Amino acid sequence: MSTVKITKEAFGSTSAGDEVDKYTLTNNAGVSVEIINFGGTIVSIHAPDKNGVTDDVISGYDNVAGYENNPPYFGALIGRVANRICRGKFTLNGKEHQLAINNSPNHLHGGPQGYNMQLWNASVEGSKLILHLTDPDGRENYTGTVQVTVTYELTEDSALSIHYQAKTDQATPLNLTNHTYFNLGGKASPNIYDHLISIAADRYTPKDETCIPTGELAPVDNTPFDLRTPVLLKNRIPLVTEGPPGFDHNFCLNGEGLRCIARVEHAASGRVMEVLTDQPGVQLYTGNFLDGVRGKSGACYQQHHSLALETQVYPDAINQPQFPDCVLKPGEVYDTTTVYKFSCS
Ligand code: BGC
Repeated sequence: MSTVKITKEAFGSTSAGDEVDKYTLTNNAGVSVEIINFGGTIVSIHAPDKNGVTDDVISGYDNVAGYENNPPYFGALIGRVANRICRGKFTLNGKEHQLAINNSPNHLHGGPQGYNMQLWNASVEGSKLILHLTDPDGRENYTGTVQVTVTYELTEDSALSIHYQAKTDQATPLNLTNHTYFNLGGKASPNIYDHLISIAADRYTPKDETCIPTGELAPVDNTPFDLRTPVLLKNRIPLVTEGPPGFDHNFCLNGEGLRCIARVEHAASGRVMEVLTDQPGVQLYTGNFLDGVRGKSGACYQQHHSLALETQVYPDAINQPQFPDCVLKPGEVYDTTTVYKFSCS
């Protein structure tokens, strides 16, 4: 029986007048995670540093209005299809789909009414926060009604696990992720340059100028994308200059099953985050487009303030048959888990 506690309080209401609740998951190791049912969004993660001082290590806003206008997708659940679909087009079972172009010229993160904009039904079972969404046939021009359940659970060893399950009544692409941005230095830390990162990936997916993969699974050897041994981001970000400097790339993860795929360490605070997933890919995004976004308690998030590690199927997989399959069919169960585990070095 877990000793992790979950409490619930009001967080405000949406512009449409729907009430939003905030759930706080707290363990005995000093970690607490706040999640709202709007977008299934993680709004804070407090974790202790090496001296036992607790601080918030993620970016976000103070209120619902912030999350209703959230271009960086801070903290949110992302679906029906995370990442980009080339020009918003795909064909499945002979039917052509044209999706919203919300990241010109492509479709991004499920479109303007993606899962980050939906009010999820929430319930608590012991130490689990269970969120449910019915994503109807036709919303954002996707086919099929998808029933999605996302279960958040915090453990006493400070692992926040996100378990995604879904079923559909018609074949559909599906790629779910969470879009939390981390800065392990805490609230006052202005950027991620002093973060040491490693990702267990021998290959990555190079992309064109619109961020769509070229289709190649390129070896990381002798490129800035070789993160197999830890690198300081301040030494690597300036080497990745296809767009604004920094990473916004999908890494093809080594191995299969739930395994540790990335580690981030901030030496000054001693905070460490390990990422485990059973997914084939992860998007490392170093906040390249953050440009003074106003956030929590008057924060102003500048470029490279925080980083996201978005576990996923590779971008544009629905149009790239050589990539891992992203189609969910009737009768199948989509089932995937990602864990963010916090500790100190
Ligand atoms: C994308 C970025 C985008 C960011 C916020 C990331 O997942 O890869 O290109 O700017 O989300 O929308």
